[in-house]
Amino acid sequence: RHGLGHLRPKLHFSPSAGFMNDPNGLLHDGERYHLYYQFAPGPLAVHGHICWGHALAEDLYHWHDAPTAIRETADGQAFSGCALIDHRNDSGLFAGPGPQNIVAIYTRHRDGRQNQWLAISQDGGLDFEEPAGINPVLDIGSDSFRDPKVFFHAPSGRWIMVVALARAHRIGFYGSGDLLHWQALSEFGPEGMLGIDYECPNLVELDIEGGGRRWVLIISINPGAPQGGSGSQYFVGDFDGERFVPDPQGLRLLDAGKDHYAIQVVEGLPSDQATGIGWLGNWQYCQEVPSEGWRGVMTLPRGLGLRRDWMGGLSLVQHVRGLEPLRVPIARPRIDSSLMPDQPLTDLDLPVDAAVELLLRFHLESLPTAPPGRGGRLVLCFGNAQGERLEIGYDAASHQLWTDRGELRGFSHPFFSQRSAIALGPDRREVRLQLIIDGCSLEMLAQDGEYSMSSMIYPAAPLDRLAIYVEAGQAGFGQLELNRLQSTLT
Ligand code: FRU
Repeated sequence: RHGLGHLRPKLHFSPSAGFMNDPNGLLHDGERYHLYYQFAPGPLAVHGHICWGHALAEDLYHWHDAPTAIRETADGQAFSGCALIDHRNDSGLFAGPGPQNIVAIYTRHRDGRQNQWLAISQDGGLDFEEPAGINPVLDIGSDSFRDPKVFFHAPSGRWIMVVALARAHRIGFYGSGDLLHWQALSEFGPEGMLGIDYECPNLVELDIEGGGRRWVLIISINPGAPQGGSGSQYFVGDFDGERFVPDPQGLRLLDAGKDHYAIQVVEGLPSDQATGIGWLGNWQYCQEVPSEGWRGVMTLPRGLGLRRDWMGGLSLVQHVRGLEPLRVPIARPRIDSSLMPDQPLTDLDLPVDAAVELLLRFHLESLPTAPPGRGGRLVLCFGNAQGERLEIGYDAASHQLWTDRGELRGFSHPFFSQRSAIALGPDRREVRLQLIIDGCSLEMLAQDGEYSMSSMIYPAAPLDRLAIYVEAGQAGFGQLELNRLQSTLT
């Protein structure tokens, strides 16, 4: 029997011990990135007594653990929130203006009471104190009011907070000149998918490929996402400093997989470097997945932008940032002509001690002999000698891209569904995939970031071989590249 060591990601951030959920306070302070996160210490690695864990990196990959940044107090647990730099000392809480005036704004949760608190750090973001007499900075007497995200809105010259009125399915917009006094500006919602709770809103202005910018409001919902449990949606629209007005476009999911939630946009980066990190998990089973004393994995850092799409709207696109220096090519299998059903590419060896990346560009035609109603299909099968299989595929007839973790044996749960699928839009003559498998995580991006599918995977033994084959079709490859990704564990 295998232990669980192979489930520890080598590239993605995961806590060395304890339970982790949402990313919090993502911030670039001019030199380093801060990743704070919802953290429950303790050997059981389940949610509770939440504080802010903390890690630091220069590059969003080589994270160094730092001490707990915000603790649970008599005023409650430290739920999700954000961090920012109060350069000008608008709050008056620092000795003067300064590039290291780090402020955290977050929810304290106690006995069904949720309100927004502010703490400052005088040591570069390591330790935070709640200045006497100012907290809570925003309290509406609610038990369902959480996850503030704050940014400076230059055109109106003030700080803007978006925060979830969770059970009411509304996002509150507040404005402030000093981060201490907040004035209600407007509300958004109920809109889109409601679920039971709205959580973890973000409002960010993103660049459109080819020029222009547009505002994006991201809202996570739990439970009640289309895949079951927790999931995130976004709205593209306009923000005038007071009110967000969505464009008329249909529902937009941020990720088509089962395990992507609570994404937060990094504060302190220009729009052409806009970056988000999400939590690879689902509230339906995140506290029950196999554990050796730790649970919870973050997504890789994803660059964020907008692309004009075939529906006449704007789609969010996500690009994994900063992978280039970590890539070590392990195979460029030769595909001289097309891949046919009788010539599978088998037994490509996978490193078991590192994350792997598969880059693919292909087109797939159905053969005339394809069974009625079913066209060609390309399958990527990651497996092992124990007979476990993780399959990722594309169906020519339905244009669906899918992942299937049903033949992995390390975890089962009534809500740990096997398959995720999404249909590609008309731009699909060539299918372009980026797939990263790292310990218990699988991230897939398709069509240069227009589709994202993230899933947790729990093989009982390492997946050490890859087979690629087609059924009832013929695939031609423009790219087929397998890379080992260097470990960034510090
Ligand atoms: C989202 C969430 C937030 C809350 C935090 C508690 O996953 O439920 O709404 O602040 O987690 O840990």
